[in-house]
Amino acid sequence: MSSDHVAIESSLQENRLFPPSAQFSAQSHIKSRQQYEQMYRQSIDDPDTFWGNVAKELSWSRPWDKVLDWKSPYAKWFVGGQTNMAVNCLDRNIERGLGDKVAILWEGEPLAQGKSPEIRRITYRQLHQMTNRFANGLRKLGVKKGDRVTIYMPMVPEAAVAMLACARIGAPHSVIFGGFSSQAISDRVIDAQSQYLITSDGGWRRGSVVELKKNVDEALTKTDLIKKVIVLKHTGQQIPWIEGRDVDWKDVIDGASDQCAAEPMDSEDLLYVLYTSGSTGKPKGIIHTTGGYMVGCYLTTKYTFDLHDNDVYWCTADIGWVTGHSYVVYGPLCNGATTFMYEGAPNFPDFSRFWDIIERHKITIFYTAPTAIRAFMKAGRELVDKHDLSSLRVLGSVGEPINPEAWIWYQQVIGHGKCPIVDTWWQTETGCIMITPLPGVTATKPGTATLPFFGIDAAVVDRTGKELPPNQGGLLVMRKPWPSMLRGIFNDPDRYVRQYWSDVPGCYFSGDGARRDSDGYFWIMGRVDDVLNVSGHRLGTAEIESALVSHEAVAEAAVVGVPHEMKGQGVAAFVTLKAGYHASDDLKKQLLNTVVKAIGAIARPDQIRFSEALPKTRSGKIMRRLLKELAGTGDVKGDVTTLEDFSVIARLKESDEG
Ligand code: WT7
Repeated sequence: MSSDHVAIESSLQENRLFPPSAQFSAQSHIKSRQQYEQMYRQSIDDPDTFWGNVAKELSWSRPWDKVLDWKSPYAKWFVGGQTNMAVNCLDRNIERGLGDKVAILWEGEPLAQGKSPEIRRITYRQLHQMTNRFANGLRKLGVKKGDRVTIYMPMVPEAAVAMLACARIGAPHSVIFGGFSSQAISDRVIDAQSQYLITSDGGWRRGSVVELKKNVDEALTKTDLIKKVIVLKHTGQQIPWIEGRDVDWKDVIDGASDQCAAEPMDSEDLLYVLYTSGSTGKPKGIIHTTGGYMVGCYLTTKYTFDLHDNDVYWCTADIGWVTGHSYVVYGPLCNGATTFMYEGAPNFPDFSRFWDIIERHKITIFYTAPTAIRAFMKAGRELVDKHDLSSLRVLGSVGEPINPEAWIWYQQVIGHGKCPIVDTWWQTETGCIMITPLPGVTATKPGTATLPFFGIDAAVVDRTGKELPPNQGGLLVMRKPWPSMLRGIFNDPDRYVRQYWSDVPGCYFSGDGARRDSDGYFWIMGRVDDVLNVSGHRLGTAEIESALVSHEAVAEAAVVGVPHEMKGQGVAAFVTLKAGYHASDDLKKQLLNTVVKAIGAIARPDQIRFSEALPKTRSGKIMRRLLKELAGTGDVKGDVTTLEDFSVIARLKESDEG
């Protein structure tokens, strides 16, 4: 990269503003900064009126008595109201005359000889029927309101059908990312005490089949909680079958009626549990409930992406992440949008696949992650330039801070300078987008998520909760409850209070550091604890460490994040061996496999270093800060005064990098 380039980058970061064009603003839902300010003020000063009005646009079988009941840190939204997410995603849209509109537009990964992929267009009416049949089938298998249903599926329309069917009958789902290993499945099944699991024989990924059913079978050797495994036959390979436990998806829907009375759900009834990594120990089951989450998904999707009736909207996230829940399935569908789903990898058969898709389906709104953008940059703009991307009008980013260079590339090469970029900050816990530009309103700057969404009282504070002056880094908190906020951690109510409501008095602490600039824009500085952000996904260092230590040769392991060109953060592992074991390439391979097997390929360490000892404080705490510095820069210059044994650093420096 030329030095010229870097100079441009920093000057852009400092000075350049990208306001939306007048033409764009004129056609958007929210047209001016003034309108935003006015709505924002109302949402903060009078949340009851603001959110009450939004919720009234959706359908409720019983109206709420009270918009918000707040006894910090416990919020109840739309108290006494009853509704159903699937009804709002399906029935309501059909009633509005959208029955023949495409709800899910899907493309499979494999390309036939003629290079044409399989495409499915499922209208709202068809999705309604598919959901109802499957929901009736689930009921027949014994699934009742409140039962947790585990979903471990590829990116196929049936994954959305499974989620919607669960929502329809009031059975909270727990979706597990299809890239996770069998260990992750059994842990989550056990924590959620789930008795039903929905999977498929396999899914396509980069030209080969990921054997999902096989992973499920392996996971279920560790627990006998699961009574029924429903299997969608998708990839078609031979799979083992356990009579009495395994049920073919076809048989579940066979003969089932396409009408299904929806369970009236209390606004605060559980909609789903979704597991995410924390800094200590096992993943947390984040709880989201029905009414507030629905209202949040509805409004954020509409305004953040300036969604209109004729948009073809594509969020590239997998349904296994919260982004897939809120912005592939629930947000777009409860707005009556056409949501596009792609089954496979961005680089199959090469890195032009996404641009192919955008051209083929005339995608208008495209929402992806910085890690993907960096991969596309690396693959080269030639692959992009061969395609007609003129249908695009809004571009989104989520998952980690987007570096200004990637932002500019996204803006120029993908958006041809005409698409507003919405860099959206939020979390599994927040349920919905929290800090984001609005495409018709906000003058963006590369690298900042800009301003809070309606109802979000975000601030940068110190440990006492005092707001910090512009450009001073501090803790990113929310000072008021919002409709889609998590309601707790499954099975661990104390951890909810400890983790989110104890660091800063009276505030929700996000775990992120941030600063606000003199325009009030939020610049996210990353997580302040030991959680890594690899390719936009949170991974707990503790989980990776415990996977490493499960190998017989390993005495102790410490995992830290290192800057990584593509992934944002990479994983560096420092490992000490038990007596009698010796460092070798073969052992390194075994350790990599151990991590992949325990967690999944996403956690595979980029570096493994064997070392005789780890740097510790006198109280025995591993000094990750030093390891981080060493892994990232090859040297340790920081403060080492609390180090117990100084020679450790010298010995670590000699350890080889892998
Ligand atoms: C963490 C949440 C939100 C769905 C995807 C990840 C980081 C997310 C941004 C952004 C800077 C971001 C934060 C956050 N993050 N979006 N636009 N700019 N950082 O969900 O796994 O719950 O991770 O991702 O560190 O706390 P998640």
